[in-house]
Amino acid sequence: MKNIILIGFMGSGKTTVGRRLSYRLKRTMIDTDKQIEKEQEMSVAQIFREKGESHFRDLETECLRNLIQAGRSEIISTGGGIPLRPENRDYLKTLGTVIFLKVTANTILERLEHDMTRPLLQGENPRSKIEEMLLLRNPSYLDAADLIIEVDGKSFDMILDEIEEALRANETFSDKWT
Ligand code: S3P
Repeated sequence: MKNIILIGFMGSGKTTVGRRLSYRLKRTMIDTDKQIEKEQEMSVAQIFREKGESHFRDLETECLRNLIQAGRSEIISTGGGIPLRPENRDYLKTLGTVIFLKVTANTILERLEHDMTRPLLQGENPRSKIEEMLLLRNPSYLDAADLIIEVDGKSFDMILDEIEEALRANETFSDKWT
């Protein structure tokens, strides 16, 4: 399949990069969190609160299966926890070219310090929580990724240019897009 999928930690810029990439490449974009919220008629925070995290994880897996069935060629921005399940990593690879937006704890903290929408980052000492989660998650992101883009200290224009250049040079991408 010919999708371009963005993965990475909360605050890595998947949604903004996805929107801009969709504009540059003239492809529609979908966001797995938004898709789930629309189908469930509940926010992600509400789903976590009322149904629990593992139910939300099941919905994410179902969302990926539906995207595979739909067989479209879109830009897909994903929730930061999607690559943690091994089966989801297989689904991501089936869907297309997977781009990992790699970010450090400092940048995440700067961007999400006052964010109330991410249930996993609420509570005391967000820095150590983020550092701990990054250590646990980075291997899964790396395992799922075709391309790795370091985003710290870069403008969105720089990130987008880098992605376009990497996609052009990426064999998988050429195979899938020509
Ligand atoms: C999550 C990331 C969130 C959202 C949910 C869980 C995670 O999406 O799916 O709050 O486990 O990292 P973003 O990465 O878009 O913030």
